[in-house]
Amino acid sequence: MQPESPPRRPLLVANWKMNGLHGDGLARASALAHHAASGDCAGDIVVCPPATLLFALRAVFAGTRIALGGQDCHVSAEGAHTGDVSAAMLADAGCAYVIVGHSERRASHGESNAWVAGKSAAAHAAGLTAIVCVGESAAERDAGRALAVIGRQVEDSLPAGATPGNTAIAYEPVWAIGSGRTPGPADIEAAHAEVRSGWERQFSGSGAALRVLYGGSVTARNAGDILDAPGVDGVLVGGASLSADAFWQICQACR
Ligand code: PGA
Repeated sequence: MQPESPPRRPLLVANWKMNGLHGDGLARASALAHHAASGDCAGDIVVCPPATLLFALRAVFAGTRIALGGQDCHVSAEGAHTGDVSAAMLADAGCAYVIVGHSERRASHGESNAWVAGKSAAAHAAGLTAIVCVGESAAERDAGRALAVIGRQVEDSLPAGATPGNTAIAYEPVWAIGSGRTPGPADIEAAHAEVRSGWERQFSGSGAALRVLYGGSVTARNAGDILDAPGVDGVLVGGASLSADAFWQICQACR
């Protein structure tokens, strides 16, 4: 417990993943913009749509409090990387944030911690805030290795030059993503403390200002309890963010 720590402004992130065509994506974004214009939320709101929708959503969110983010970026600024999107391209499309190292990319694209650190560095070079994802698998948790895995991922997935101003870390246990299962508050608190310790081991002294988000089966029902857990500075929301109403309820659960 560090009661003297400075307050950290919560970060509420919607990760639409590979969901949203032009019509329904615009409708969802417009509904969320409408909520944000008429209601209250104590945090910073970020929507990470598929890359195809970025320019269209930039227009929808212009003049609102909602920021745009990418779901991934390449380590290079440009070049022969068929199918990839660079951080500079995301910034050009209006993004202020980018998710890197999501477990779905670590699993299906073979992304290592070092590769994720390279992506974070690319994000920083483009002026983006990197939201770096870490989290243990079910087998690692069952083997009692969850905190060791999290600490190692934090230490190895961050580039030199990472600061609490250009980086947030999302703790997302792999087994909780899309499963409807979440860790208890004590496990979330322990994981977030380990994230902050891992940061401190690498960048001594600045961990108190770092925003550590929780992700994995966050819903409008459980968001209040999760956001109230010690050390939780926001949430990264997948499935529930596909409903503007549900995601806005999550934003409002942030006190
Ligand atoms: P979920 O996904 O909310 O659908 O569990 C979270 C994430 O993968 O970022």
